[in-house]
Amino acid sequence: MTGREQWGSRFGFIMAAAGSAVGLGNIWRFPYTTGENGGGAFLLIYLAIILGFGLAVVIAEMLIGRAAQKNPVGAFRELGGKGWSAVGFMGVLTGFIITSFYVVVAGWCLAYIGFMASGKLATTDAATLQGTFEGFISASGAPLVYAAVFMALVVLVLSGGIGKGIERANKVLMPLLFVLLILLVLRAVTLPGAEAGLRFYLIPDWSQVNLGTFREAVAQAFFSISLGMGTMITYGSYLSLKENVPSSALTVVLLDSAVAILAGLMIIPAVFAAGLNPSAGPGLTFITLPAVFAAMPAGAFFGIVFFLLLSIAALTSAVSILEPMIAYFVDEHRINRRKVVFGVCAVCFALGVPASLSLGMMAGFKIFGLSWFDLMDTLANNFML
Ligand code: TRP
Repeated sequence: MTGREQWGSRFGFIMAAAGSAVGLGNIWRFPYTTGENGGGAFLLIYLAIILGFGLAVVIAEMLIGRAAQKNPVGAFRELGGKGWSAVGFMGVLTGFIITSFYVVVAGWCLAYIGFMASGKLATTDAATLQGTFEGFISASGAPLVYAAVFMALVVLVLSGGIGKGIERANKVLMPLLFVLLILLVLRAVTLPGAEAGLRFYLIPDWSQVNLGTFREAVAQAFFSISLGMGTMITYGSYLSLKENVPSSALTVVLLDSAVAILAGLMIIPAVFAAGLNPSAGPGLTFITLPAVFAAMPAGAFFGIVFFLLLSIAALTSAVSILEPMIAYFVDEHRINRRKVVFGVCAVCFALGVPASLSLGMMAGFKIFGLSWFDLMDTLANNFML
């Protein structure tokens, strides 16, 4: 166990694990999924699953890591025997796949900070905004440049190691994220016309609930608390053996749910206030929200803050999706950390290239009837996790 880096403090560990959990899943995916699944009723089912079920799995993953003091592959081998290492391996592989589309979407978030600042999105016309969004993501060059910039930030954090890299970044970025989020929620709920959105979001409509709602809620819950690919195992492996896992896990899960709830509270009332529809699907963030910002006083400022928030959330999560792979190569193959970080990030970026191009230039190229982007997304979320 000599020489394995550990978290500098309990606060640092909790911020890092919360940074992993709080990501595009909370701020991009959760509000539109709630909008599509009946608002308040979905919110309650989601919370019941997180607390009744998700929390136990977070604790289990952290304990596996803490006990083994190893990456997921090594941890399963040590605790379960040789055959079990396949489970850890599957996690490492899933990480490559998730990262490949996560960095593409994260690149869009970075790009939108600039678009907000330049006034390119200053219109309330949904068709124009849709054109801007689709034109941008289907281009061959620009989205890849932004994805590369995002990947460079990830490399910067990861190559600092656990204490000076991951922990230090999260200790600054997570509190900042909370401040930005609260600022935006206060803006949203005080807009004229926000009450209709608050009512939709907070008063459950059980007529919208069916079996599919539960399936959606379970999928959303597992993705949101970073389960199923060894992130929490790996973060747990940097804990000392005397650390209390259940109480840290509870804090992480509560922070994650709080951010999801606040994200809904920031987005849904604002969408209603602008007279728009919250069930717009994945385009809610990139098409509906710019219209909302364009309609509000000082909207460009709040828009920049919003996409900055989203980029921060994506950065701390992307780091945590990559760390299990880094730990695997460092522990099992004894390769220098810096080299591993560059190598793994280069491969992930290379996998992101077809994911991005499949939305434009390579749109005709399909596997099982899916574009590369959708194939990677489906493979990871519906099967591998
Ligand atoms: N939880 C993050 C989000 O909400 C994404 C994420 C980070 C993740 N690490 C993970 C998802 C591990 C699954 C597995 O965006």
